[in-house]
This record gives sequence, C-alpha cells and structure tokens, in this order.
Amino acid sequence: MDWGMQNRLSRMIKPATGHSVMLACDHGYFMGPTNKLENPRKTIEPLLPYADTLAVTRGVLRTSVDPKWSTAILLRVSGGSSILMEDLSNEEITTSMRDAVRLNVACVALSIFVGTSHEKQTLVNLSKLVDQGQEFAMPVMAITAVGKELEKRDSRYLSLACRLAAELGVQVVKTYYCEDFARVVNGCPVPLVVAGGPKLNTEEDVFNLAHNALNEGAVGVDMGRNIWQNENPVAMIKAIRAIVHESASVREALQIFNENKKNPSQRLETQIQP
Ligand code: R5P
Repeated sequence: MDWGMQNRLSRMIKPATGHSVMLACDHGYFMGPTNKLENPRKTIEPLLPYADTLAVTRGVLRTSVDPKWSTAILLRVSGGSSILMEDLSNEEITTSMRDAVRLNVACVALSIFVGTSHEKQTLVNLSKLVDQGQEFAMPVMAITAVGKELEKRDSRYLSLACRLAAELGVQVVKTYYCEDFARVVNGCPVPLVVAGGPKLNTEEDVFNLAHNALNEGAVGVDMGRNIWQNENPVAMIKAIRAIVHESASVREALQIFNENKKNPSQRLETQIQP
C-alpha cells in the first residue's frame, strides 16, 4: 500500500489499538436538519475531542468545523436523493477527488445499495471512486446500506454487500451490526466498522451493540444518532471510546456514562478548543 494511503488510514484507524471511534454527522446529506443535528457546529464541537474521525459532507466541513482541529475527516462523497423520494438508492458521486484532497481528508465514503434498482449504478460509482482513490492515495469507504434499506439487516445480505465492496477495492467498509456478525467479518478481507442506526431504547443497548461488534471483529464504530441524540452526548462518546480503545465491558461503559453524566465539569470540557 502506498505511503500516502497508509498514512491517511493511520489518521483514521489508530495504530495504537487498530481501532477507531468515528463520529457520524453526515445525515443531513439526505435527511436535512435531522433532530439534534440542526446546527452541525453546535452538535459536533463538544464531541470532537473524543472522536478519532469525523464523518461529514464538504458543506458541513467548510461551514461548521474549525480547520484547526486535527481529527481525521471521513468525507461523504455520494448523494443525489432525499428522504422525500421513495427510492433513496439513486445516488451519484457528488464531490471530486481533487476537492477531497484539497480538504486534506483521511478517507472518502460512498453508499452502495446492493439488491436495489440502483445496485449497478452505485457499484460502478464505487469502482470509479476506488480508481480515483488509487491515483490520489485516498482510502475509500463503502457504506453498505442506509435508510429504507435497513430492513435487509441480516448476515446473509450484509456479508454479500460487504464482500462486493471489498472485491471492488475499498480499504474500509461501514455496515450494520447483525446476528451472526462474525460471518460478515469473515467474508470481508478489509476492516469493517459498524453504524449505530436509529436511536436505541437504552444506553445499555448501544454499548451492547458496540461491544459485540468489536468482539466479533469490527475495528470500530461510525456512530451518530445514538451519541448526539442522547441527552448526554459527551458521556456517550466517552463510554463508546472506552469500549473501542480500552476493551471496556458493557458494565464499565455504563459506569463511565453515569459518572460523566453526573459530572458537572462536563460542561467545561465541552469548551476544549482545537
Ligand atoms: C447515514 O446517512 C450515514 O452514513 C451515517 O453516517 C450512518 O448511518 C451512521 O450514523 P448512525 O449511527 O446515526 O446510523
């Protein structure tokens, strides 16, 4: 692997543990001003000190993230459909590789919609992006499903989608945790991270998801709503961080969450500057 590609990947997946806490804040690209992400800067800033990687579009990056931060950027470069459309799978590449390089990002991300009417289009999009990535030493992440595709969240479907992405040459895959997740990991020769999906009922459910995914071979999480839609987002990301980088158990994560939830200095910590 080229030095530049390796260097970018190391910014995102930390060599010390081989894991990564990715903070997903790219939902606006098809959902608009999602609950608790209406003002991206307000949501992102307090959480950034605890994220290895921030997932955003170039619009949010340029308007709402201070360039002084050294957090790795995972740039969403696919889009073209909104939640108003019946079929979300009709996506194209929306950002050039030149602009991604100009933004000094660590990785670019694109959704593939396997098993939908736009399967071929999104897989070809991915292949083109991988070609451009090879040219510019830019890692590419495939995102295996979003939105209405979530109903297909089983190991048979996800192992197919992840394997297709790996075969097309991506460096990382983002998928969803599911029963028999080990099957998805075993069939995918590149690192996998898991999304959180819509907000779960309890913090314990979120920690279980992260803990199980890591135990079964994911290298990290790319999590959004279950962090920033929580009433205590900083406590959430700190607990997730302990699971990802320190192999904390679900009980330990809950303890970290509860301690930080109660901690009145949490408000001060949110003032940390780049
Ligand atoms: C979906 O639009 C994006 O790819 C999100 O980054 C992804 O779904 C992860 O966010 P969440 O944990 O909220 O599902």
